[in-house]
Amino acid sequence: MRTEPGGGIESGGRTEPGGEAPASSADPLAGRRVLVLISGSIAAVKLPLVVSALAARGAEVRCALTPSAARLVSAVALASLSRHPCALDDDQWSHRAARPLHIELAEWADLVLLAPLSATTLGRWVHGLAEGLVASTLLACEAPVLVAPAMNTAMWEAPPVRRNWQALQAFERVVPVAPGHGLLACDRRGEGRMAEPERLLLALESLALHGWRRDWAGRRLLVSTGPTREFLDPARCLTNPSTGRMGVLLAQAALQRGAVVDLVHGPLQVEPVLLDGLLCHPVVTAAEMERQLSGLQPVADAIVMAAAVADHRRVEARHEKLPKQDLQPALSGGWEPVPDLLAGLVARRPAGQRILGFAAHSGDVLPQARAKFARKGCDLLFANPIDLPGAGFGSAFNQGWLLGPGERIEAIAPAPKLAVAHRLLDALAGLPLRPPAAAPPHRAAADGTRPAAADP
Ligand code: CTP
Repeated sequence: MRTEPGGGIESGGRTEPGGEAPASSADPLAGRRVLVLISGSIAAVKLPLVVSALAARGAEVRCALTPSAARLVSAVALASLSRHPCALDDDQWSHRAARPLHIELAEWADLVLLAPLSATTLGRWVHGLAEGLVASTLLACEAPVLVAPAMNTAMWEAPPVRRNWQALQAFERVVPVAPGHGLLACDRRGEGRMAEPERLLLALESLALHGWRRDWAGRRLLVSTGPTREFLDPARCLTNPSTGRMGVLLAQAALQRGAVVDLVHGPLQVEPVLLDGLLCHPVVTAAEMERQLSGLQPVADAIVMAAAVADHRRVEARHEKLPKQDLQPALSGGWEPVPDLLAGLVARRPAGQRILGFAAHSGDVLPQARAKFARKGCDLLFANPIDLPGAGFGSAFNQGWLLGPGERIEAIAPAPKLAVAHRLLDALAGLPLRPPAAAPPHRAAADGTRPAAADP
């Protein structure tokens, strides 16, 4: 008999995630009222893409522009894409409703996206100046605000802007998405490029799922994800279909919750923009992954082993391609098991470091997961089926069983992978971790500063 996460703990009822999607698999942005505030930076031209994607995902969207943003991006386009009139400064004075427009907008919103954030709007907000519709809406607003600055590098690094940005970090309900490094419209390469639309959408989804609290601030998380590859010869390898998406989303969720995140990953099949903000350590083989993990383990407060490590490797590396007729003997001999990296991490862990392992299974997951949890010695184990439609490798959804201390078992019903990621982070944060002060010093990446990467 097979037990499944949707069927309750060990109830034995099989509930396939086919047919009508269960409530937990619905898009977290569907039905949410998202207010998009756009200030004057050339990155404003990317916002119609965000607005269009939000509307397509079932969010209700309204937009407001500062006067300089209105010179860069079309209010008509935004109105059409959001299916609502786009609010401009002048509308504050032509508004015939009983309530002022900035109050109406502020009270309407469940979530606010302020992107791009210009130096002027940042300064107004931090100093409490209600000049213009966008600035006054921000002051009146009690919903969480996702903030994505964009400006020229020299402006971004100018001391008054740094001070204002630092001051904003202390505001309640504000979730920063620091700008990245890249080619700017002023032809300079440097810090100041607004996070890409896909990353803003992911951050909004996280905000809808988890809220604005940075419960991982001051902590460093080490995540492994993706497949590894073991080469038979330069042209052939042993690997698996893992895309790495689950681990990457977990890393992004932790980053948004304030953690500094090291991501050790095999060859990934995810949008490269999903790696922004993470300290990435790419590897190919299990031996390379092991080297990176053991170098980074001492500075980690917690570790998530989501990597799908290939099981066997060649005893001796072969540097020339084998002719096809010689493949059969090479496939059946000359392989050795890859060491269990998770077991090594558990054996070497410093006091207070918590470790979450993953387990991929087909068939009846729970009994196999129980045995694996007892064998591996980690604090938590998330066991997920890989043979159900709409779950496992390459899927946008996941489900499974979370095994924890004291024989605790929690069924995780089918849900978007980002929702599962937040649930797993909640469980990890619920274990006694070492106090943040005891952790090696590091700076939070979310404030726009780069932590020193502890590369082995
Ligand atoms: N793992 C590891 N090193 C390995 C194999 C697996 O660290 N050589 C880790 C994975 O990252 C995961 C956990 O161990 O966190 C379970 O991996 P899984 O592939 O489910 O199981 P295996 O240990 O490989 O055992 P089996 O294939 O027999 O299920």
